[in-house]
Amino acid sequence: MGRMAIGAMRCPVCGEAFLRGTRVAERAGALTCENGHSFDRAKQGYVNLLVGRDPGTGDTAEMVARRVAFLGAGHYEPVADLLPAAPGGVIVEVGAGTGYYLARVLDRSPGAEGLALDLSRYAARRAARAHERATAAVADCWGMLPLADGGVDLLLDVFAPRNAAEFRRVLRPGGLLAVVTPLPEHLGEIREPLGMLSIDPSKAERVSSVTDEGFELVGSAELRRTMELDHAAVADLVGMGPSAHHTDAAGVSGLPEPVRVSIAVRCAVYAAPPR
Ligand SMILES: C[S@@+](CC[C@H](N)C(=O)[O-])C[C@H]1O[C@@H](n2cnc3c(N)ncnc32)[C@H](O)[C@@H]1O
Ligand SMILES: [Zn+2]
Repeated sequence: MGRMAIGAMRCPVCGEAFLRGTRVAERAGALTCENGHSFDRAKQGYVNLLVGRDPGTGDTAEMVARRVAFLGAGHYEPVADLLPAAPGGVIVEVGAGTGYYLARVLDRSPGAEGLALDLSRYAARRAARAHERATAAVADCWGMLPLADGGVDLLLDVFAPRNAAEFRRVLRPGGLLAVVTPLPEHLGEIREPLGMLSIDPSKAERVSSVTDEGFELVGSAELRRTMELDHAAVADLVGMGPSAHHTDAAGVSGLPEPVRVSIAVRCAVYAAPPR
């Protein structure tokens, strides 16, 4: 596990730092805080830092497997290209899923260390292997993030929950928050035929809550392009997302093949306010 990333992490029980470089800290890769709270590392490499109730909104094993397949085929690579880099910094992705975006950003950020946070242990399991400079932990991003005040240089939030107050607390002043959200046309061609959930029109409003926390918009880009997907890829795309449980898989076979599907997303980059 990266020393810089562990240095930015905090015990979710008491908020103290984790011990580093001692025998107790290194034992089986467990994380132990200064008050002796200890969190084992699963054999798959991630640490479970979830304390209290599991809200149950984490992705299932099936959704994560679909996400691995779809992202691995490179269809969303242009989305990853929108994200800023942070050479030498601590980079945290919240609601990281498989850690795909974190890994792409680490590739462009020499010397940086990454931490993937997700409520789903299936996602954390994958994210732990996403990059040699990445660590993964299970955590509820609606609660207190297991991170120190001001220790993060770049926070990534791609189609994931946004906890603006916590984002502000953990970013250093001037640190960057990159938020990727879908535009109304995103996946427009298949939403109706497959009965997928529509884009929540209040999403834009919820994003603006980061400006309420004092974040300053420093950059914004929109990406619009089409993908040519076969039926297997469409099934992965639907199965990896929030519509997985609402969609009739049989509908996929009624689509043309390949089918043209629009990507339409916005990446907004904000600078964290001074304290
Ligand atoms: C739409 S996926 C996006 C995953 C990843 N950012 C990507 O684009 O590939 C949303 C992710 O948020 C996670 N999630 C849901 N509720 C969460 C919570 N309360 N705290 C942390 N992660 C959560 C899910 O498990 C899922 O991996
Ligand atoms: Zn502790």
